[in-house]
Amino acid sequence: MDLGISGRKALVNGGSAGLGKGSAKALAAEGVELYISARGEERLEAAAEEIRRGTGATVIPIVADHSCAAGRDKILSICPDPDILVGTCSPAPFTPDFREVTVAAWEEHLAIGLISPIEFIRATIDGMCDRGFGRIVNISTAASKFPAEIRTLSGPPRAALSNYTVGIAKAVAKHNVTINNLLPGMHHTATAKERFNAMAQEQGSTYEQVVQDWIDEWEIPSNRFGDIDEFGAICALFCSNQASYIVGQSLVVDGGVTNATF
Ligand SMILES: NC(=O)c1ccc[n+]([C@@H]2O[C@H](COP(=O)([O-])OP(=O)(O)OC[C@H]3O[C@@H](n4cnc5c(N)ncnc54)[C@H](OP(=O)(O)O)[C@@H]3O)[C@@H](O)[C@H]2O)c1
Repeated sequence: MDLGISGRKALVNGGSAGLGKGSAKALAAEGVELYISARGEERLEAAAEEIRRGTGATVIPIVADHSCAAGRDKILSICPDPDILVGTCSPAPFTPDFREVTVAAWEEHLAIGLISPIEFIRATIDGMCDRGFGRIVNISTAASKFPAEIRTLSGPPRAALSNYTVGIAKAVAKHNVTINNLLPGMHHTATAKERFNAMAQEQGSTYEQVVQDWIDEWEIPSNRFGDIDEFGAICALFCSNQASYIVGQSLVVDGGVTNATF
């Protein structure tokens, strides 16, 4: 299906790895002009080149930390008027004891998980409204809807983000500007690979076995982790022309771990 976004300008903050990269690739395959930002230059340049080669799209990499004002200013000076805005970051560290979460840790994760997407939305949404087209997708976390102690730093900032975005989505929908949140569960991303490889080493096990143990413990009905390309395709669908009537939703993508009748 043609998603109707060829020629649109897309900005993916956190696009050099993981779910952001999967989303960037899927958008590039639809013919957007792609801007991807991340802090690490080497991985960012490599991702940009891989996406260019794989899709033929124009890909502009921007080295910046989008959790701070200076980083956001740099990104927005290079791409001030995206039609499509996707935001993501790395997963917060696990928090096995909520008592150990410090104010500094809260400030760091509120800056990247809440303030950053809010500031990008504020900076770009009026242009989208004026042009009569805008798609904003926040790659958030299932932990925002289904809390767990181990996700204390991950869920709360993004629960606040969902609250904010659902509220303001109603104000801009009449301009064909949509804001939605994707709430991933476990996926084979860069950080997941790093984290589960470290656990495997600690336990004298393998990546595959540690992932399977996690799947069993958390009872993932799909009996696997998701992959970044299937996630990217869903993100691109939410950014499509056809998705204009999906407004202020928060969709969990977790292989069926957390669900209810509706
Ligand atoms: N992976 C999972 O299984 C899983 C499960 C539940 C929820 N999630 C959620 O899904 C989202 C993506 O996770 P992921 O696993 O795909 O992450 P990832 O593999 O670590 O990729 C994160 C991307 O964001 C960039 N990034 C991180 N911090 C940044 C910053 N301050 N400024 C600019 N770019 C930054 C990273 O590049 P640099 O490091 O070079 O900046 C990288 O390109 C997160 O919100 C996470 O909480 C993931």
